[in-house]
Amino acid sequence: RLDAAGRRVFDLTAAPGTHEFAGRAVSTWGYNGGYLGPTLRARRGEKVLVNIRNALGEPTTVHWHGMRLPAVMDGGPHQPIAAGATWSPSWTVDQPAATLWYHPHLHHGVARQVYRGLAGMFLLDDDQRTGLPSRYGVDDIPAIVSDVNLDDRGLDDTPASFTDLGVLGRTVLVNGTPTPHLNVDAELVRLRLLNASTARSYRFGLADRRPVTLVGVDGGLLESPATVTDVRLTPGERAEILVRVRPGESVTLRSFPPRLGSTPALFDRFHGGDDTLDVLQLRAAATLRPAAALANRLAAPVDIDPATAAQTRRFRLAGHSINGRQMAMDRIDTVVTRGAVEIWQIENTDGMPHSFHIHDVRFRVLDPPDESYRGWKDTVYVPPGRTLRLAIRFDGAADPEHPYMYHCHKLTHEDHGMMGQFVVV
Ligand code: C2O
Ligand code: CU
Ligand code: CU
Repeated sequence: RLDAAGRRVFDLTAAPGTHEFAGRAVSTWGYNGGYLGPTLRARRGEKVLVNIRNALGEPTTVHWHGMRLPAVMDGGPHQPIAAGATWSPSWTVDQPAATLWYHPHLHHGVARQVYRGLAGMFLLDDDQRTGLPSRYGVDDIPAIVSDVNLDDRGLDDTPASFTDLGVLGRTVLVNGTPTPHLNVDAELVRLRLLNASTARSYRFGLADRRPVTLVGVDGGLLESPATVTDVRLTPGERAEILVRVRPGESVTLRSFPPRLGSTPALFDRFHGGDDTLDVLQLRAAATLRPAAALANRLAAPVDIDPATAAQTRRFRLAGHSINGRQMAMDRIDTVVTRGAVEIWQIENTDGMPHSFHIHDVRFRVLDPPDESYRGWKDTVYVPPGRTLRLAIRFDGAADPEHPYMYHCHKLTHEDHGMMGQFVVV
């Protein structure tokens, strides 16, 4: 709905609820009931207002992952919503079409709140003509992938191991449904995949290994489509893929072992690195609607030139800290100049997988190690022992008072302090 000022208004209530997993009613948390939350959707240039009522009985926040917006609206740890309170951030959408998401960002409390079900998609549209399937829920499918353990008492949040890697669920869900299938009536189906798991990484591909078309990643559509056999998504990452189906067939989207490169190698298993999981079955109708032709160019190129970088900063990930320091609410770690291009060099000196996410910006991975790093990114996998260089343009709003976060998106790592704060001045 639009309000009198022409803003697009969304109402969310974060509350405990009940959700049926394969016929079993389980206590969960969600936005507007049950598990997960509604898909929010807005166009570039639109002004949005979200009213979030917190009925959880404990504090929470709501962060707009991937959204470029003023820091005070970002919903990070500095914007808590007290139990019973309502928070109403508002901003103007000013970025290309993308599959974004929203989730809590309460300091020390993210993994638990997300695991219980607090997450939803936020889709952005723009005026670019792409020819991509765009019938929401019909051939343009949001797929929030999460994993849970269900026991007699409900959602079990016992961590996977003696370590603090978080919960690794045995049951994989798409939009809250275990072993889901989808009846499709079109030969080309667009899946907007989001890894909303707190710890698990996936490598999505088709069970018969036929290729899919990668058309988008975290920060929006690729300049041109790419043919891939699979795409790795670590927590927080997104990918948009096109799956071509033939009349009458069933096609299984599977997650193959993501090969995370831990040392020792057996540590991969605590991040789902060894697991093969069936995720979603597409059941094609006997006659299928033909696909439209794709545009040659889906979006503007990733145009950040590293030669224009004002400086390189190093971020060393190890031992639940970044550069040897754990998150402190009252310490600003990094000050960047509005409009500057910088290289952020992310060094994983642990034996453990980490995923690096930066608020407010979309960045380019320089010298990408593989296909999973193409396009505009906001979250990237940093394998053990590896260094990644990110080219970032800080072109959002300046605000010396309110910081944005950067952190590991393995949510227990974030909760343990693997996070820092930057301001744009
Ligand atoms: Cu998806 Cu700082 O978060
Ligand atoms: Cu974020
Ligand atoms: Cu980490």
